[in-house]
Amino acid sequence: MSPSALPKPLQAAALPDFVLRQFDRASAQPDHRQLYGILQRGIRDAVLPASLKLPPTRALAEALGIARNTVIHVYEQLALEGYVQAGVGRGTFVAKVGPRLVVDRSSAPAPAPRSDPLSRRGSRTVSEAGAARIQWGAFTPGVPEVRMFPAQIWNRLHSRLWRDATPGQLTYATGAGDAGLRESVAAYLQGTRGVICTPEQVVITSGTQQSLYLVAQLLADPGDAVWLEDPGYWGARSVFGAGGLKLVPVAVDSEGMAPTPEQLREPPRLMFVSPSHQYPTGALMSHSRRHQLLEYAAAQRVWVLEDDYDSEFRYGARPLPALQGLDRHGRVIYLGTFSKTLFPAMRLAYLVLPPDLVEAFARALIELFREGQTMHQAVLARFLAEGHYATHIRRMRAVYSARHDALMQAIAHHFGGHLPVIGGDAGLHLVLGLPAHVDDHALAQHAQRAGVTTRPLSLYHMCRPAAGKGLLLGYGTVREEEIAPSFTKLAKVLRGYL
Ligand SMILES: Cc1ncc(COP(=O)(O)O)c(C=O)c1O
Repeated sequence: MSPSALPKPLQAAALPDFVLRQFDRASAQPDHRQLYGILQRGIRDAVLPASLKLPPTRALAEALGIARNTVIHVYEQLALEGYVQAGVGRGTFVAKVGPRLVVDRSSAPAPAPRSDPLSRRGSRTVSEAGAARIQWGAFTPGVPEVRMFPAQIWNRLHSRLWRDATPGQLTYATGAGDAGLRESVAAYLQGTRGVICTPEQVVITSGTQQSLYLVAQLLADPGDAVWLEDPGYWGARSVFGAGGLKLVPVAVDSEGMAPTPEQLREPPRLMFVSPSHQYPTGALMSHSRRHQLLEYAAAQRVWVLEDDYDSEFRYGARPLPALQGLDRHGRVIYLGTFSKTLFPAMRLAYLVLPPDLVEAFARALIELFREGQTMHQAVLARFLAEGHYATHIRRMRAVYSARHDALMQAIAHHFGGHLPVIGGDAGLHLVLGLPAHVDDHALAQHAQRAGVTTRPLSLYHMCRPAAGKGLLLGYGTVREEEIAPSFTKLAKVLRGYL
């Protein structure tokens, strides 16, 4: 690039105008992503030069007509990634991200200068992250009642096993997980979920996220397509996106994932579904849709990833058996976790694989992660084998059922039948539907300031213009008697948005 082709650096006073010109209030993209993108591109392209002072967060929020918290969050994100530096009491300045190389046009084309501290994939992973920073309190979705975990039983099993710990349990792991745990998991899944497997098909991982990471690494190459339910689980989207896969959003109807005829003409490498309790809408995949997807997967050699993350908690009808049990062609990879039935920090989960994939997954697990936690797995194996797991699930099902009813009552008390409740008969959360004009992101931020945690439904959508509006309300983290007062606080904020 010749010096004359370099962009003209902006003066500080012109910055709000620079942002305003590009900021589109009608855009389907959330405010924080838009603002982040505008500032990040400006800095990357040196339109916003090093040492330029960014406007105070309050002033920029007012100029754009958005929440100040949104601006604070974007500045924090940019600071985290090294684009800006903040000095206490001094304001926020564009960081010195390194001199741009001035390349003579006559020379061979040079690769584009890389001033970002992160890779493109890295900055996408961070800027599009879905994980919330708050993971406790009414109405955090996706988190169980961890205060009722039977810690005394766990402690007892733990001490007993440590008395006889073997070197084999304390060195690096060498296989697919604790043999006793694989056996107990296989028996549990056969008995309760209709999964057809032997213990040898079970591979223990440290969370569904790790299971998905292994699938992305071992069964797909960058550029391969993965079908994702839309709306769907952001965690899967992030792992597959970071793995360089092409993310294809597929709409969900009342029967589950519903690919269009055009989508069916381009088979993906992987499809990710939550048939027993679609996340986050709660839809139960119908029998006919299950058979259609399995037939398609067998004919097109697609791997079907079945995320069965919380089917233990169903308050009306019994859950349908897992998709894996219907599969006659070995295309389904079943994913389960202990995060919802016990507690998320347990970080133990499992994959049930077609037999000829097990060796590769076990090998990659120890190669990429040098897995361990063998004692932790052994304690959990005893916990299952002695029946404590089944007892705990039974107990928690009754607790969640009562909380679910209390939340439904609170919703009915404040809004009658005016706001629809979606997917409320299973799992640890429900979705309170909202009219299309409501900015559910802004509402969730506002509710957070009032002390109530919720997540906006539109966050779970990839196709933003079609995004349904609503709030995910979890009841795992709030005692039954606290549900009504917490919902009253939320209702007060919510009314201002209707
Ligand atoms: C849809 C879905 N699947 C799986 C998980 C569990 O993930 P992990 O086992 O990594 O805790 C979650 C947790 O939030 C989830 O929402």
